[in-house]
Amino acid sequence: TTAPAIHRGLAGVVVDTTEISTVVQETNSLTYRGYPVQDLAARRSFEEVAHLLWYGELPDAAQLHDFRARERALRPLDRTTLELLARLPETCHPMDVLRTAVSFFGAEDPTEDDGSPAANRAKSLTLLAKLPTVVAADQRRRRGLTPIPPDPSLGYAENFFHMCFGSVPDPDVVRCFEISLVLYAEHSFNASTFTARVVTSTLSDLYSAVTAAIGALKGPLHGGANEAVMHMLLEIEDPQRAETWLDEALASKRKIMGFGHRVYKNGDSRVPLMQAALDRLVARSADPEATRLATLLAALRHTMITRKGIHPNLDYPAGLAYHLMGFDTPTFTPIFVMSRITGWTAHITEQLTHNALIRPLAAYAGPARRAVPGPA
Ligand code: CMC
Repeated sequence: TTAPAIHRGLAGVVVDTTEISTVVQETNSLTYRGYPVQDLAARRSFEEVAHLLWYGELPDAAQLHDFRARERALRPLDRTTLELLARLPETCHPMDVLRTAVSFFGAEDPTEDDGSPAANRAKSLTLLAKLPTVVAADQRRRRGLTPIPPDPSLGYAENFFHMCFGSVPDPDVVRCFEISLVLYAEHSFNASTFTARVVTSTLSDLYSAVTAAIGALKGPLHGGANEAVMHMLLEIEDPQRAETWLDEALASKRKIMGFGHRVYKNGDSRVPLMQAALDRLVARSADPEATRLATLLAALRHTMITRKGIHPNLDYPAGLAYHLMGFDTPTFTPIFVMSRITGWTAHITEQLTHNALIRPLAAYAGPARRAVPGPA
């Protein structure tokens, strides 16, 4: 018998169909339900994109009104959740806080075992509405501040700034943030989405799938990269050092965070729009540090492309953009969760429409069959 082909990392393996989004490698394009993501980010709100991902179509005016009203009503956390969050050690990562919160929401939800599309959409909206409240309360706790309750008169993005900082920045900044949310919302069978689908395929519940997906997103090869990019920039500090730092890092086989992608090999389709948003943030910042970090980022990009032919991914401009918006570095990946919750839950619902248990095979490479020796 011939040895089976091994697809380590499932690279290039097509495991199922999806109607939610498509990443076309050849044209470096990404569409959500057929719409180019750049056009959605430029023209539509994050709430509209969430509706599109979940229901397959952009909402009309009445649907959007209803969707917004329901999302705003679901934002507050109950006292038990706030108490739970307050008890978690401040040394734990904000992604651990978020993972714990989602698991706790699951434990509290009496309808946990009802996996119908309607029940799952209701749970998805609850998570979309509550996750920002958790992330903002946690960032404030780490800064020694009390949580600020959500404001139902504010849109999704504005309310998040309000809960984090007690004020809403000017619309330009809110817009840059919203663009990042739209760009992060969905990306086909990436590692965390696939994780959610694996859990769902066993007919487990939505909270379990999302909890697992948060764990997968936390890693620096996936969502954790936006945070890692910021650490890297702060480590290099001086744009003049970019080239030498990069040479040393590449010589020691270090992975450069915010660069490379499993699917896009000639550049990530989401980068130009996020880079433009970042450029606007840098241009309006009065802090010389913003220009210094942006120059450093550009130097790294140039050297990576010319030396290695490896292009930046979305996490590369997003990390610095979140820094300039005032968020703490460990909050960057939780913001990614606030957005990707839409894609994950769309995939959970889709998995259940044509479910098959996800259970691949492995080629055994351990010791040959042998007899168990007698007791020692
Ligand atoms: N820095 C240095 N070398 C790299 C990088 C990088 N960031 N990415 C790829 N390479 C090299 C890699 O070393 C390998 O070289 P060689 O053939 O000489 O061994 C070649 O390029 C192919 O890389 P690979 O690791 O086989 O490619 P992959 O498809 O398995 O990896 C990746 C994709 C995203 C894990 C990888 O590019 C990486 O580790 N990047 C850094 C982490 C990162 O930015 N992740 C965010 C991904 S995109 C958005 C998201 O999910 O959040």
